[in-house]
Amino acid sequence: MIRRFDYGAPLKTDALVKDVPLSADALPYFTVTETDGGVCFTHALGKDDLIFGLGETVRGINKRGHLYRSWNTDEFSHLESKESLYASHNLLIFSGQGSPFGVFFDDPGEVVFDLGYTDANTAAITSVNGNVSVILIEEDELNAIVRAFRSLIGQSYLPPKWAFGYIQSRWGYAADSEVRAIVREHRDRHIPLDGVCLDIDYMVDYKDFSWNRESFPDLKKLSKDMKEDHIRLIPIIDAGVKEQSGYDVCDEGVANGYFCTYEDGSPFVGAVWPGRSYFPDFFRPEVRRWFGDKYHALLDQGIEGFWNDMNEPALFYSENGLKAAHEELNRLLTTNIGLDAFFHLKDVVLGMANNRDDYRSFYHQHHGKRMRHDKVHNLYGAYMTQAAAEGLRSYDPDKRFLLFSRASYVGAHRHGGVWQGDNSSWWSHILLNLKMLPSLNMCGFLYTGADLGGFSSNTTEDLLLRWLQLGAFTPLMRNHSALHTRDQEIYRFGMQEDMRNILTVRYALLPYLYSEFMKCALTQESMFRPLAFDYPADQTALRVEDQIMLGKECMIAPVYQQNARGRYVYLPEDMLLVRFRSAADYDLLPMEQGHHWIDLQLNEMPLFIRKGCIIPLSRGGEWVEAVDFTDLTLLGWLDGAASYELYDDDGTTTQPVLADGLNAILCGVKDGRAFADGKGLTVDASRVIVNG
Ligand code: GLC
Repeated sequence: MIRRFDYGAPLKTDALVKDVPLSADALPYFTVTETDGGVCFTHALGKDDLIFGLGETVRGINKRGHLYRSWNTDEFSHLESKESLYASHNLLIFSGQGSPFGVFFDDPGEVVFDLGYTDANTAAITSVNGNVSVILIEEDELNAIVRAFRSLIGQSYLPPKWAFGYIQSRWGYAADSEVRAIVREHRDRHIPLDGVCLDIDYMVDYKDFSWNRESFPDLKKLSKDMKEDHIRLIPIIDAGVKEQSGYDVCDEGVANGYFCTYEDGSPFVGAVWPGRSYFPDFFRPEVRRWFGDKYHALLDQGIEGFWNDMNEPALFYSENGLKAAHEELNRLLTTNIGLDAFFHLKDVVLGMANNRDDYRSFYHQHHGKRMRHDKVHNLYGAYMTQAAAEGLRSYDPDKRFLLFSRASYVGAHRHGGVWQGDNSSWWSHILLNLKMLPSLNMCGFLYTGADLGGFSSNTTEDLLLRWLQLGAFTPLMRNHSALHTRDQEIYRFGMQEDMRNILTVRYALLPYLYSEFMKCALTQESMFRPLAFDYPADQTALRVEDQIMLGKECMIAPVYQQNARGRYVYLPEDMLLVRFRSAADYDLLPMEQGHHWIDLQLNEMPLFIRKGCIIPLSRGGEWVEAVDFTDLTLLGWLDGAASYELYDDDGTTTQPVLADGLNAILCGVKDGRAFADGKGLTVDASRVIVNG
């Protein structure tokens, strides 16, 4: 059952695609109280209750015990103590006493989730502005709650098939020759590759939709040559538009009044990479149309994918903030400063970035009404993603483009994917990457992944290798690193052969990964799920934080500790361990339900297949289009017949249907023999272990 309860005057967010009738009842499960201008919902937690959800956040899969704040933030340090990252995904799922229930707090302003932090036995959720629509979902099991929520928020974005390939990225790639050299290094060493990201250095002075004609003299030719080598270029687009007269995007935005304004109607100025910048008011359809159509200049060069960044929006400082800080520093520096003044001085400088006063100083037009930014802050990135998606659609409505964003709100999942932002080259961030996957999936974000190897600080080769062993399963598989950090391309390292082998596993698994992704997107399921969702009666499975389900058939449990040569794994049922060293070199080890220590040398990655299930494995390839989805080996541990529904399509059109109208093919094993249902599929069941 799905019901809606409104408080204050809820703002339209476009998160839901269906109307939910307003309930005449009082909101069950919660006590509702007014706070200073806001509204607070408290729920008494049972001793063993678990809380899931919140999408992109730090800490556990079970969110209980910490405080989270929905306030999209350019957060460059994903420490456990942080309350906010780049996104606001206000879904909670409570499980424990009686039937589970889900609750979505649809509010684009600040929402605080105190989930047993102040009081271990209480969850208190506060809408700071007091204008919130609460959507309550009651079902008798956890996966059904997610399905119900996902059907309310609409189908997840479908990327093109090539976007499931390995992507190389780095802040600093600045020239045509550099891109060609990176691709050559991969191809010469047979390291699979499908894309190269262009970070801000391809632009002129970090101006959106410009590219440097000296370092990229013929972008069209570069992208054509790359495409012939099965590589796509993926340029970045930032939210801030450089303030510079003579720059067409700036001039048009000013002339048409497309930028966010101060209270007096003049355009708001904040600083990001290009320096002083204006911010398009993406809340308005005509601004989205204008900005979205700007992507066409790059599409005309043969580009097929983009990443949208800095769209929380990040603000290094504002014009007014800089002035105020300047005055304060002048005042302080004339005196002989003591300790308090010194710390105050530090706060003044550090506090200039992403300052709350700045977010209260500018305005949007939101559904025809003037709206102060802080009331709708968490929607800014979502509307930028929508602008881009609409621009791509108007360019070619039949084509799937790659699009992923840093900031998001529920609803943006219909328009693009998300990457998990500026993580660090820390071992703990492999685990953080894993934990975000099921939470993001619950909120509709299926196309996701983290910066493999870590963005900030210097990676180490064992860290990158282990991280690739998780990244091999994530839809977005991108190695990305920050300017001035150590080079992080696979071929820079002594262990490159082992890393290359892990990529062969990724490409061999593509028929499975693509099938599971597409089936989940089309049927509102999650590709990654906490064990608690599939084994709700198993008291151990409920609290597992470092293993997750992948698709219907598998579980993953990567190694995420430095120096480890294996790990403990809990199997909630009998499973077949596939210990991969490469696509062609792996062991199959049937394992019984229970706790196990699994030996995993640095070059070995595990995948667990549920007993009774089979998965397809292809021969792989050095790019996605080279992977033959019709020539498959089946892996599994069976005691009878089993089948797998393989999904395939052309990978590029928005209405993905095969020539004869089929996109799901059955393959499997029956009476000890492999079978394939049509489509010229050949399957070999030689890797199926038949029990007894
Ligand atoms: C932001 C992005 C990062 C990018 C950098 C430069 O920090 O999160 O991915 O490399 O900006 O554009």
